Amino acid sequence: MDVYTAIRSRRTVRDYKPDPIPQDLLKKILQCARWSPSSSNTQKWYFIAIQDRDVLAKLGGICKQGPFVGTAPLAIAVVMDDAPRPQLDAGRALQNMELMAWSEGVGMCFVGVRDDDQVVAVKELLNIPEKMDLITILAFGYRADIPKPAGTPRRSFEEIIHWDKFGETTQPA
Ligand SMILES: Cc1cc2nc3c(=O)[nH]c(=O)nc-3n(C[C@H](O)[C@H](O)[C@H](O)COP(=O)(O)O)c2cc1C
Repeated sequence: MDVYTAIRSRRTVRDYKPDPIPQDLLKKILQCARWSPSSSNTQKWYFIAIQDRDVLAKLGGICKQGPFVGTAPLAIAVVMDDAPRPQLDAGRALQNMELMAWSEGVGMCFVGVRDDDQVVAVKELLNIPEKMDLITILAFGYRADIPKPAGTPRRSFEEIIHWDKFGETTQPA
C-alpha cells in the first residue's frame, strides 16, 4: 500500500477480532516508533507493547475513553520522559505506528487517558515511573466491524487549505 492510499483509507478501528498481531508485524510497528523524528532528536520516549490478556482486560476497565482496549489483542502505551515537546514527538511516533499497522490490515484507536485517577491506575498497572508522562494507550487489532460507508467526514479542502495568505482559498493559476 502506498503512503497516500494508507493515509486516505485509514480509519479508527474500535472493534477487534481476537486474532493476535503477528510478531514480525509488531516488531515493524515498534521500529516505526523508534525511527520517528523527535525534537532535536531527543527520543525521550518509551513504548510498552502489551499482549497479556489479563493486563489488557484491566486496562479496558480503567480507560473510560476506550474500554475496547480490553478486547484488543495488542495495546501500546506511549510514555514520554521529560521531553521538550512531548505531544508533538509522541504524535509523530504514534501516527507512524498506526500507518504501518494499517498498511498490513491492522486498525488502531487512540485512547485518551486524561483523568488523573486513570493515569495513576495505568501507571501502577504498567509500572510506569510516576514522573513520566503517559501520553496515550493505543489499541490495535484486525477490524471486526463493518466500516460505515460514509466513514468519518472531513471539513472541505477549500475551507482549510489557504494559498499564500490566510483567507485566500482559491489556488492561484
Ligand atoms: C488526540 C486524539 C485523541 C483521541 N481520543 C480518543 C478516545 O479517547 N477514544 C476514542 O474512541 N477515540 C479517540 N480518538 C479517535 C478520534 O475520535 C478519531 O480519530 C476521529 O473521530 C476521526 O475518525 P477517523 O480516525 O476514523 O478518521 C482520538 C483521536 C485523537 C487524534
